[in-house]
Amino acid sequence: MQGNIMAENRTPIVIGSDHAAYALKEKIKAFLIERSIDVEDAGCYSEDSVDYPDVGIKVASMVSSGKFGQGILMCGTGIGMSMVANKFPHVRAALCADLFSAIMSRRHNNSNILVLGGRVIGDILAMEIVKVWLETPFDGGRHQRRLEKFDEISEDFTDKT
Ligand code: RB5
Repeated sequence: MQGNIMAENRTPIVIGSDHAAYALKEKIKAFLIERSIDVEDAGCYSEDSVDYPDVGIKVASMVSSGKFGQGILMCGTGIGMSMVANKFPHVRAALCADLFSAIMSRRHNNSNILVLGGRVIGDILAMEIVKVWLETPFDGGRHQRRLEKFDEISEDFTDKT
């Protein structure tokens, strides 16, 4: 598995968490660095309480702008971080607590931010999820057409039914 990550994915990754997932972020950072993946750590930097949107906005904006191709966000449940991240254009953040969802979020949704809940899953499962997420390519084809429809979402939120 380790060899696959290095072969398939050498793009730098931006990561971030709030205090609730600080310990998990540190473990994931070490896991990525051990595999020669460049990591930008957008915080937080201790277990002192922070507001998850502050870190989520930093990471999501760097993926939205194209500065980073991929990001990993973590908070207690992962819910707040995924809500924040998915407000940014071109961000497709996937909150995953199982391997199948992580794989399918790449194959069908071309997810570019993986979100994990540090109070929901254990460290070993989290690492496995990161591995499969990094190793799984996007299927393209009909899924690309579907993703292009995201770009048709405008500021006009009137009922389209
Ligand atoms: C922090 O207590 C917690 O609310 C946060 O980590 C996250 O779970 C929010 O969605």
